[in-house]
Amino acid sequence: MAEQEVLYNGSSKVVYKGEGEDIIIRFKDYIAAFYNIKGANIENKGIMNCRISSMVLRYLNDNGIATHFVEQVSDTEQRCHRVKHIPIEVIVRNVIAGSMAKRLGLDEGIVPENTIFDLCLRDSELGDPLINDHHAVALGLVSYEELAQIYAVSAKVNTLLTKLYDDAGIKLVDFKIEFGRAADGSLVLADELTPDTCRLWDVATGERMDKDRFRRDFGRVRETYEEVAQRLANLCNR
Ligand code: TMP
Repeated sequence: MAEQEVLYNGSSKVVYKGEGEDIIIRFKDYIAAFYNIKGANIENKGIMNCRISSMVLRYLNDNGIATHFVEQVSDTEQRCHRVKHIPIEVIVRNVIAGSMAKRLGLDEGIVPENTIFDLCLRDSELGDPLINDHHAVALGLVSYEELAQIYAVSAKVNTLLTKLYDDAGIKLVDFKIEFGRAADGSLVLADELTPDTCRLWDVATGERMDKDRFRRDFGRVRETYEEVAQRLANLCNR
């Protein structure tokens, strides 16, 4: 078999060039936190995250969100459309937690009346700094019109995912998504949606079901990711 061209090799994913304008994303077992200061291999994490992200992106596609996802092609691989990536992280928060709680001196678990949207510049050397709309436009990353669309799509994704996870007995606390531009310039959600990139709290017990288990040494990381995959599979009939 011909060697595949690597387009990107990160700590938890590797992206290969696929046929035509497609890419292949392979999920690794590695989990990294705090800009790789902390890392470990979690058995089956690649399989679980590929499964979870495939179910979630298929659900979003089916509900009218344009994503890069085409199909799951193996236990650990997805076929996706190649897009021009926009280096902005959009964080959507339904419950105060993580960096927002720390930055503003708030207790985790407070439920604000409104949905909170943060923008971060995707630049690990700068520590992915928080930016606002005007910074994003001034940096030439997006137009104000595109930002309006990004917020609207992110809000719709939040509504859809909140419902999906609610049906699975899980509170969607927050999540991060990124976008790209397709060949015709249209915006496309181009990211994974996994317990690495979302905060998920069990509704019944309040237990963390996401990467905070690893960040904060709560243990049972593999079992928890498996539980998320199983609950979603029960809903998505896979
Ligand atoms: P934060 O509270 O650390 O800002 O994270 C908010 C959410 O976004 C949380 O679910 C983790 C996710 N996230 C990423 O997936 N990648 C990132 O680089 C950052 C900063 C957050």
